[in-house]
Amino acid sequence: MNRLLKLLKVRRSIRQYINKSIPKEKLQEIIDAARFAPTARNLQPWEFVVVTDKLKLNLLAQLAENGRFIAQAAACIAVFSADTKYFLEDGSAATCNILLAATALGIGSCWVAGDKKPYAVQVGGLLNVPTRMKLVSIVALGYPKVRNVFKPVPKRELIDILHWEEF
Ligand SMILES: Cc1cc2nc3c(=O)[nH]c(=O)nc-3n(C[C@H](O)[C@H](O)[C@H](O)COP(=O)(O)O)c2cc1C
Repeated sequence: MNRLLKLLKVRRSIRQYINKSIPKEKLQEIIDAARFAPTARNLQPWEFVVVTDKLKLNLLAQLAENGRFIAQAAACIAVFSADTKYFLEDGSAATCNILLAATALGIGSCWVAGDKKPYAVQVGGLLNVPTRMKLVSIVALGYPKVRNVFKPVPKRELIDILHWEEF
């Protein structure tokens, strides 16, 4: 199977990590992949804040009620966007690129909700982000604790979701 297609299929949310830091070049490579995502009118309204500081990771974990595992992550990337019409789609496309780039580098990742969450404003404050920016997502990153974690999770079957020409 084509390498990219395989990557798409083996990626999964990883929420347990070993205590090992991620080299800065790899984090940079992941952000570099994010910036190639499509955006409406090619506005590229995003900004990415990489957090590796343990104290900040702990504070983020406390804020995100479904992201407590951020405290054990080696890093996280908070995806912010200018408040454009399609900021959520643009930021989500970038977030997907982040997840896939991490998978390609053998790094586990998990998307933690940002937009719509009451803590979104506090996350921006904690990371010194201008108040006009919107939090799209927080991506936790770390080397997976369990081996062979990139196995597929149950997904709806192709036959159940694919409609040719009409529903
Ligand atoms: C918009 C969005 C928000 C999510 N928020 C969280 C979250 O707050 N905490 C979490 O543990 N996982 C979160 N996830 C990850 C999903 O739970 C996960 O993608 C889903 O269970 C499918 O598993 P997979 O990623 O391994 O395919 C989120 C995913 C998306 C797309």
